[in-house]
Amino acid sequence: MRVLVLGGDGFCGWPTALHLSARGWDVTVVDNLSRRNIDNELEVSSLTPIRPIGERIAAWKEISGREIGFQNLTLGKEFDRFVALLKDEKPDAIVHFAEQRAAPYSMKSARHKLYTVDNNLNATNHVLAAMVESGLDIHLAHLGTMGVYGYATAGLTIPEGYLTVTVETDRGPVEQEILFPPNPARSIT
Ligand SMILES: NC(=O)c1ccc[n+]([C@@H]2O[C@H](COP(=O)([O-])OP(=O)(O)OC[C@H]3O[C@@H](n4cnc5c(N)ncnc54)[C@H](O)[C@@H]3O)[C@@H](O)[C@H]2O)c1
Repeated sequence: MRVLVLGGDGFCGWPTALHLSARGWDVTVVDNLSRRNIDNELEVSSLTPIRPIGERIAAWKEISGREIGFQNLTLGKEFDRFVALLKDEKPDAIVHFAEQRAAPYSMKSARHKLYTVDNNLNATNHVLAAMVESGLDIHLAHLGTMGVYGYATAGLTIPEGYLTVTVETDRGPVEQEILFPPNPARSIT
């Protein structure tokens, strides 16, 4: 089985790549290393040293004997390259973590705000469109932000997913299924 881990050089993506590789999946990491560039821009570095992606991949091969592929590609910009990659690799699944994750960074200035929204929305938009364009049957797991909007009704467990509601109309009450948002602040990672 083949899997692409988008944002696979990141905090969640790299351990996911290792986990799937250890379970026998053929893994390719797709990442534009933008998180590393942001660290350079902010002149900060992780308390735990993060080795370059090439070193990470070589170390994994040394201890596991397994190869992890790497493509330096910007999702949301390089659409044709991404479609070609899908057609080439024919992955069974994609795990998508490729987003600018830091709310404080997104609020630094108009430029940072525009970058974050453009990057995060366009990356996912391109992933979905590329999957359709490839004509392949690929499963997608997308992990996004920590909190999501919804309704926290005290004392009531609101089901996620489809909910049957009665809507009052000119023609009388009509039953309809709506996609109901989950309760807020539920972690989806
Ligand atoms: N880390 C957490 O505890 C946590 C918790 C909840 C949700 N999340 C969410 O999970 C996702 C991943 O989080 P993370 O902590 O691994 O972030 P991260 O910044 O460590 O990893 C994201 C990776 O995506 C890459 N990337 C960003 N935009 C890209 C693009 N357009 N094309 C290609 N690569 C791109 C970055 O270079 C980085 O390596 C984010 O959406 C984040 O909000 C993370």
